[in-house]
Amino acid sequence: MASDTHYEKYKSDGSIQGNALEWFDARFPATSMWRGHLSEYYAPKNFNFWYFFGSLAMLVLVIQIATGIFLTMHYKPDASVNASGIPVAFASVEYIMRDVSWGWLIRYMHSTGASAFFVVVYLHMFRGMLYGSYRQPRELIWVFGVLIFLCLMAEAFMGYLLPWGQMSFWGAQVIVNLFSAIPLIGDPLSLWIRGDFVVGDATLNRFFSFHVIAVPLVLLGLVAAHILALHEVGSNNPDGVEIKKHKDANGIPLDGIPFHPYYSVKDIVGVVVFLMVFSIILFFAPEGGGYFLEYNNFIPADPLKTPPHIAPVWYFTPYYSLLRAMVWPIFGIDAKFWGVVAMGAGVVVFAFLPWLDRSPVKSIRYRGPIYKTLLTLWVISFFVLGFLGTKPPSYAFFGVIPGAPVTQILTAYYFLFFLTMPWWSKIDKYKPEPERVTSK
Ligand code: HEM
Repeated sequence: MASDTHYEKYKSDGSIQGNALEWFDARFPATSMWRGHLSEYYAPKNFNFWYFFGSLAMLVLVIQIATGIFLTMHYKPDASVNASGIPVAFASVEYIMRDVSWGWLIRYMHSTGASAFFVVVYLHMFRGMLYGSYRQPRELIWVFGVLIFLCLMAEAFMGYLLPWGQMSFWGAQVIVNLFSAIPLIGDPLSLWIRGDFVVGDATLNRFFSFHVIAVPLVLLGLVAAHILALHEVGSNNPDGVEIKKHKDANGIPLDGIPFHPYYSVKDIVGVVVFLMVFSIILFFAPEGGGYFLEYNNFIPADPLKTPPHIAPVWYFTPYYSLLRAMVWPIFGIDAKFWGVVAMGAGVVVFAFLPWLDRSPVKSIRYRGPIYKTLLTLWVISFFVLGFLGTKPPSYAFFGVIPGAPVTQILTAYYFLFFLTMPWWSKIDKYKPEPERVTSK
């Protein structure tokens, strides 16, 4: 790093002298970026393990991009069949798995990485709900986060079509057909998305192009915006108190410590634990018991044979349940349309959290019993909806309690939790926040 004196001198009068880094610094803000975002970015000193998931999400993003680049070298987005009657796209994935050196590892890193991404991001979002990280002044960090989440869903959905297995094909067929439920524009819209009357080669080619370049570019831009917004206002913490309120004579928050080296080193602990768990799954259960890679997807796509039960991958199943909960036409419009609305609203509603939550305190540590109870019930509902989304609509718990009405009740609760939040978050009891962070 440039010495302080040379760097400060350059900053004050523009004179350039000294080493290569100073030459570079005079032309590019390397040192000032390093300082602003790492060595002089003051993060609250009381971060706990929940704060690992942001850096882990970045790690998984890098893993996905790096493995994706190598997969693209051998994968072929082609729905036509080869001499053995196998679709070329499906065969190219098999070729990667069997013939490309280390191809199996790269492919499983990418497919298991997709599930890991959602585990990490769900935990990262939940941390935000625990500590009120979406509240003022961090609304924009959160809104960028929700946009990232939407992009991630689009990215995973389009990626799943590429192996051109039975689930790839029929999953895409079901989801793209949903758009046809939109009044007036539905049919031409779904035709436009598919590029054909059925999911076919045109669909595969455009999903490939979106999956490998368009969506990742948007995702990277959004992640950059997410971090810039975070560094503009500063991080929240498990106490939900603003460390910028108490600064020393140099303007440094009394409860802040430089991100580097303190948290850069601490984050390595999270990375090591994550890589251990990730490796165990990768090497011993890459299919995740049919949840990460569905068994039906090891069968080549066959437009003439619909699988008896079509279910999305686990990370979509809570939203799939919201979709299936809507079974009645409303205002004369088909139930399928309201299902699509419920599924979309289930994600978009998160973006409104900063304005729905009216509690005087941010962190769950100081919030009252209403929030704690309703949030716990909401998490349970999310899991049960996720579970029901993996089952056929006829599923019954223990063979007696029918799943369909449970899905509907939990869907109602999912939305009521958010919609009634302005009311219950205001009347809930709370403990006064401390002035400074605590070291629990
Ligand atoms: C590719 C996905 C994502 C990446 C790489 C990412 C990255 C990060 C990083 C590195 C941090 C700072 C470290 C930390 O607080 O854990 C952070 C903070 C934050 N993220 Fe994300 N994030 C992602 C997705 C999301 C999503 C989907 C949401 C919410 C919908 C979200 C909401 C937040 C919030 C509110 C903070 C500030 C937390 C605080 O200061 O307490 N992020 N993110």
